[in-house]
Amino acid sequence: MTETALTVHQTARPHGFPTAGHFAFVESARPEPTPGTALVENLYWSVDPYHREMMDGDFALHAPLEGRTLGRVIESRDPAFTEGEIVFHRQGWRTHAVVTRDEARPVPRFDGVPLSAHLSILGGTGLTAYVGLTRIAELRAGQDLFVSAAAGGVGTATGRLARLMGAGRLVGSAGTAAKAAYLTERVGYDEVFDYHAGPTADLLSKAAPDGIDVYVDNVGGEHLEAAISSLREFGRIVRIGTLAQYNATGAPYTLRNLPDIVEKSLRMEGFLVSNHRAVQEELYEFVVPHLRSGRVGLDETVVEGFERIVDAFLGMLRGENVGKMIVRARGRA
Ligand SMILES: NC(=O)c1ccc[n+]([C@@H]2O[C@H](COP(=O)([O-])OP(=O)(O)OC[C@H]3O[C@@H](n4cnc5c(N)ncnc54)[C@H](OP(=O)(O)O)[C@@H]3O)[C@@H](O)[C@H]2O)c1
Repeated sequence: MTETALTVHQTARPHGFPTAGHFAFVESARPEPTPGTALVENLYWSVDPYHREMMDGDFALHAPLEGRTLGRVIESRDPAFTEGEIVFHRQGWRTHAVVTRDEARPVPRFDGVPLSAHLSILGGTGLTAYVGLTRIAELRAGQDLFVSAAAGGVGTATGRLARLMGAGRLVGSAGTAAKAAYLTERVGYDEVFDYHAGPTADLLSKAAPDGIDVYVDNVGGEHLEAAISSLREFGRIVRIGTLAQYNATGAPYTLRNLPDIVEKSLRMEGFLVSNHRAVQEELYEFVVPHLRSGRVGLDETVVEGFERIVDAFLGMLRGENVGKMIVRARGRA
């Protein structure tokens, strides 16, 4: 057991793309649990696009950051915690955390399913995809989908879940040809284009010449405009995120085809997964049997070593991940 702890702080606000210089690793003595708390050694960390949004103001400078993480209770001063127990909590970006029972929930263990799945398809990432398809899109069997940032955490989970739900044609966009091949060969997409290859509207209308019923939007901007043009009457747009904008410094992209939303009776709805926690058990019931049978594989890029968490975060923003970007404690997880 290490006697020191490492914590990542943000040290400056970025303008545009962040760099490693906006962060610092701060070493301290390992924290001690006080009565009513437990000391957790973190094992897996999630790095997420919303952290980039928080860097603009919500993350305090020179203070520990918030992030989803899984860890093992190594010292308990609350009988509600068992030493050795694995918990999920939000004191990420650090090697050790002192948590109360309210802040840390036990993670269910499913035989044959790796722990990391609780940060990918079984965690907030998979829940976002599941809520988007079932509650917002109200997807029905046979309906055709387009998903942007299809090779990321939410995009791969959306593809896997949509296939299980009996979706029709599944079209995606991603940043490289290698990602496109992964999605068609492994995840179940029918066709995926590299969005750098030309105007998105042209690429989408070629990939989905007969149109789409649902657009799962992780990107916004030009992707959203292209999808509005390709949607059929009564189509739905699920607004999940705006990746095209998080690091942009210019004016946001102006959509030119908003009248189509009226003309085609489209419905556009956004949501935050934090308002849908009650759906978590339903997600487990739906997907765990398929993880166990091997019908659904895990889409994860796992970076080894807490000291690489900033690199993993910046790499995720640059598109270096296939599936969910996760950091694993070296030699401990
Ligand atoms: N509403 C909610 O409650 C909720 C919850 C979770 C996540 N989200 C949102 O869901 C989206 C996906 O999140 P995630 O965690 O799964 O991240 P992710 O997709 O695994 O990682 C980010 C990906 O974005 C792509 N990207 C970067 N810049 C881009 C650009 N300018 N245009 C298009 N793609 C770009 C990169 O892949 P390429 O190589 O393909 O460019 C990169 O791999 C984000 O918008 C996030 O904010 C929302």
